[in-house]
Amino acid sequence: MKAKFIAFEGGDASGKTTQAERVAAKINAVFTREPGGTPVGESLRSILLNPISPLALRTEALLMAASRAQLVHELISPTLTKGQHVVTDRYISSSLAYQGYASGLPIDEVLYLSVFATKELTPDLTILIDLPVEESIKRRGKSPDRFEEENIDFHKRVRDGYLEMAQINSDEWVIIDGTKSQENVAKDVDQAIHDRLQLP
Ligand code: TYD
Repeated sequence: MKAKFIAFEGGDASGKTTQAERVAAKINAVFTREPGGTPVGESLRSILLNPISPLALRTEALLMAASRAQLVHELISPTLTKGQHVVTDRYISSSLAYQGYASGLPIDEVLYLSVFATKELTPDLTILIDLPVEESIKRRGKSPDRFEEENIDFHKRVRDGYLEMAQINSDEWVIIDGTKSQENVAKDVDQAIHDRLQLP
């Protein structure tokens, strides 16, 4: 069977990192995350998430894409080529949701940056852990990063953007109700992976 590429997406504090790590261990996939996942990407991550970085929106979009280009080149493509699955915590759709839908850059331009960055490598399945914004704010930790500091309307645009993408691309996306208990979210995620990708 061809190695599978799975992306987890969702707003802040949706619980997707826990699920992504769990699934990676279960299916013996390489786990990675964005922004980051490579030495260059992790350096970009510290600039991108630092609340005091004076980043122009277009710089932010380019650095997200740069981190992604490095990750695909260094880790995702070689891993898939050697036949091992990859699970990533965030991918292209995070840029569309945050820099596009929420911050207002044209969606087609943000998409083009990632198409260039990834040489059109798209996930076999994108799993959206969906959570109402009010709930994600309640779950959030004490020191907010640059994106967590944004206002509630910003996070609502992120969520609506994700839901729209999931509906438009329903063959490659699945929406999981993130308000359920961690155990039930895990069951729903595993069921979706089994149904859509025929993985055990
Ligand atoms: P992270 O600490 O990984 O948060 P989370 O646990 O919510 O994934 O922070 C990543 C932040 O970067 C998150 O707020 C979303 C944002 N982001 C973008 O704005 N665009 C992107 O392309 C990516 C990958 C992340």
